[in-house]
Amino acid sequence: HKTVVVTGCCSGIGSDFAKLARLQGARVIGIDRNEPTLSLDGFVKADLGDPQAIDAAVAALPAHVDALANIAGVPGTAPADLVARVNYLGLRHLTQRVLDRMPAGGAIVNVSSILGAEWPQRLELHRALAQTGGFEAGAHWLRDHPVAQPTCYQYFKEALIVWTSTQSQRVFLERGVRMNCVAPGPVFTPILGDFVSMLGQERVEKDAHRMKRPAYSDEVAPVIAFLCSDASRWVSGVNLPVDGGLASTYV
Ligand code: NAI
Repeated sequence: HKTVVVTGCCSGIGSDFAKLARLQGARVIGIDRNEPTLSLDGFVKADLGDPQAIDAAVAALPAHVDALANIAGVPGTAPADLVARVNYLGLRHLTQRVLDRMPAGGAIVNVSSILGAEWPQRLELHRALAQTGGFEAGAHWLRDHPVAQPTCYQYFKEALIVWTSTQSQRVFLERGVRMNCVAPGPVFTPILGDFVSMLGQERVEKDAHRMKRPAYSDEVAPVIAFLCSDASRWVSGVNLPVDGGLASTYV
């Protein structure tokens, strides 16, 4: 059995991925700030925006982890500091800690967003942030480079794509571990409504019109499962859109 760690397992995409991974025979350990209602093989309650809580959660994980799916996230309606800590700094911290438990052949999948697609416009900033490495160093850098709400959501999804792509080269060559992103378009989950206040009604309606409907979270989960599996063993450092083609309609 493969051991898969899933953050954000209590809702939406994370919950559907956890169910699918168990159906596929994995031993699934969830991490979330809420209590799960689904069955899992293990669960650790933790605030993934707090580095001490992350360290305590990692100490409770098995010594050997085959895959890590970083799915937990908060929308841009949350305070900018929380978005930075949960969607980026905490994700980075957890990943660095879990990597020490991952043998060659392991896989990490980070859930970004098609809203992160404009990363090339701020590449130098995102590279500088990626180079800060640790949680506190990143938080310190952000005090000098503040990002406002609600665009902080897009900003940290961009930063996540750049961090994943730059780190993936090192972890693949040095450790044989692959790291990729999955970039969903709009998905029917509890945070879908938050995108109206983040992006405005007009943009959300335009996107909805282009794609006819948002995705269901069980249409995103299998793509995460693929990138966690050996079937994708030569895929590393990509940001794979799962948006029904929405991003391509903007080209
Ligand atoms: P959701 O709100 O249904 O699930 C998020 C999960 O993360 C929840 O179980 C929540 O308890 C957990 N979580 C949030 N903050 C946490 C913290 N500080 N510590 C521990 N757990 C925490 O949201 P959804 O839609 O399933 O989102 C999953 C990921 O997909 C997020 O990273 C989100 O940004 C991304 N995404 C979602 C889209 C959508 O339209 N729903 C579109 C593109 C990306």
